Amino acid sequence: MGLQGKDLICTQDWDINELMTILNTAVQMKLDRYNPRWLEILKNRCFLMMFYSPSVRTHLSFATAATELGGHAEYLAPDKMSKMKTKTTPGETIEDAAKVISNYMCGIGIRVMETALSEYGEGHEMIREYAKFAGIPVINMADDVCHPCQSLSDVMGWAEWFSGGLDQIDFTSLKKKKLLVTWAHGAMARSLNSPQGNLLLSSRMGIDITIARPKGYDFDVRMMDTIQENCRQSGGTLNIIDDPVAGYEQADIVYARNWISEDAYANGVFQKEKEIKRAMQYPDWITTADKMKLTNNAIFTHPMPIDRGSEVEDSVAGSENSVIYNVASNRLHVQKSILAHTMGLFHE
Ligand code: CP
Repeated sequence: MGLQGKDLICTQDWDINELMTILNTAVQMKLDRYNPRWLEILKNRCFLMMFYSPSVRTHLSFATAATELGGHAEYLAPDKMSKMKTKTTPGETIEDAAKVISNYMCGIGIRVMETALSEYGEGHEMIREYAKFAGIPVINMADDVCHPCQSLSDVMGWAEWFSGGLDQIDFTSLKKKKLLVTWAHGAMARSLNSPQGNLLLSSRMGIDITIARPKGYDFDVRMMDTIQENCRQSGGTLNIIDDPVAGYEQADIVYARNWISEDAYANGVFQKEKEIKRAMQYPDWITTADKMKLTNNAIFTHPMPIDRGSEVEDSVAGSENSVIYNVASNRLHVQKSILAHTMGLFHE
């Protein structure tokens, strides 16, 4: 399958066979991490990581991915860059930056989230603008709308669990599983990107989805239309509730995460403190061991970092059914696969 040169900005831009190619190679790379087959795929090539927003997992897993493929990943943050032009300030245009960077690097990863933005959707648009002018693949390392590398790592971790292990992984094991994506209270004012991105992908796997959230915490309407249509096409279902307990009943997968409200921006500024104050008014919205007892022995999943004690009790995050560390470990293998297929010397 020809994935060379492709951008990965949202999983929805790719057909399901292309996404499965990434996942299947990620499985092979995880099963046999240091096989000589992978070690020179990015030889003498440099991948640029532009971080407008902070990270632990994304930064380290992309850096390791490039190294393990025989290449290098270079880190660039705004305080080390020339000023970029915005609607109100002078600086270098994205067009100029993207065209110049394309002459040096083999690909560009970009992370840009709420605190770097003045309105919802601006980060996603910015990455698409880079992709428009770059002559090399652009990878979304998390924006304000979705987080495709995380979404692929989530479903890989879930499929490992429901297949009984990596060596017998079967992604169809997710079909008709009951997924609860539940809002959680917390003091970190988290992006929509991970849960919204996950829903864009899990809705293509034939999963029966329940979204639980208090009023005022709906996802992007356009994304919800896409998620609904994905469910229809894949044979899954979509149910939206405002009850912090009911969705746990007979769930197979519990995904808990705080996300920001529909009023998160005012006057061009992200209202972080207001968001935290508002979210903390819902202490019942937490995944507890008692709620997990209502499930069908569900796994607990979260993209991390976790706000323990607010989003989820420690006993659940640390339980045998928690897949958080395995999902986080999959970031490395998924991203190696993405780099290999889109910008490396890789032949299946
Ligand atoms: N899940 C995730 O993207 O983690 P980081 O913010 O640490 O990169």
